Amino acid sequence: MSSERIAALLRRMPKAELHIHIEGSLEPETMFRLAERNHLRLPWSNVDALRAAYDFADLQSFLDLYYAGAAVLRKEEDFFDLAWAYLERAAAEQVVHAEIFFDPQTHSARGVPIEAVVGGLEHACRRAHAEFGLSARLILCFLRHLSEEEAFATLGQALPHRRHFIGVGLDSAERGNPPAKFARVFARARELGLHVVAHAGEEGPPAYISGALDALGVERIDHGVRCVEEPALVERLARERVPLTVCPLSNVKLRVFPTLAQHNLPALLDAGIVATVNSDDPAYFGGYINRNFVDTFAALPQLGAPHAYRLARNSFEASFAPAADKSRWIAQLDALFAAEGLRAG
Ligand code: ADE
Ligand code: ZN
Repeated sequence: MSSERIAALLRRMPKAELHIHIEGSLEPETMFRLAERNHLRLPWSNVDALRAAYDFADLQSFLDLYYAGAAVLRKEEDFFDLAWAYLERAAAEQVVHAEIFFDPQTHSARGVPIEAVVGGLEHACRRAHAEFGLSARLILCFLRHLSEEEAFATLGQALPHRRHFIGVGLDSAERGNPPAKFARVFARARELGLHVVAHAGEEGPPAYISGALDALGVERIDHGVRCVEEPALVERLARERVPLTVCPLSNVKLRVFPTLAQHNLPALLDAGIVATVNSDDPAYFGGYINRNFVDTFAALPQLGAPHAYRLARNSFEASFAPAADKSRWIAQLDALFAAEGLRAG
């Protein structure tokens, strides 16, 4: 199949996005617009100077900039505008379902009430469903460089808004912050009937992936690409069908892999892991979900139409959407592949 045809297929196929930090979709132009609206001064003189700073040595150097940028988000309307811009873009890229991370502690540290954060995000999600038929759900992430006590306080503040989020996650600086640090707050979240996920094995070692499964009871691993360093862990992830939400452009930008051509997505799929493709922080890493798909397939010629089908199908199977929705989206995917005369899987 020609590279143009596979790129068109990747763009057209229905898909779910399961690993997107809404604060990471803050485009430089929006950052400057919101800074002006909220009478704030950014440390960069203009959009070009800001974009020039998007050259990261590792996860921490990115997080420093990401938290500085998120400081322009103050009011409910800022969170609405941010999420609406992402959802419009996602709908145009054939995302039919999105599970969106947000970091309330980034905002409460500046005195922004959680009502403003959840209110703005939730309003955008409702409108995306009404206008595009896109189902969007929120997942509250705890910042792992902070304490478990602070995570408990955040969960307490969020509980009045329980109906507006479906789960909790764990993000921020991975190294030195193992999953076990958050075992009790994740146990509480599970008791509350929330879904649980965690970033693990992005920069941290494979032991953090096992730790997220065993100490936190997570249902999915965000990133998880370093699992390949431990063959027994790869076998476990495949056998237990633990999905990995892989973010190829992020991994290159944060130097987890030197180039896309060296990414281990094909090896993960070959090992039978339920891998998915996602954008992580699209405004910072050079592209939204379709650019992640298209650039990854272009760099790895062993990936073809059966892998495209598998990745899209995995995104639905790995989602927390109701079974009837999953079946409907998979039927749409099957119909597209049949219409194109392509083998599904
Ligand atoms: N917060 C936003 N993006 C992140 C990433 N890739 N890893 C950890 N924390 C994050
Ligand atoms: Zn992430």
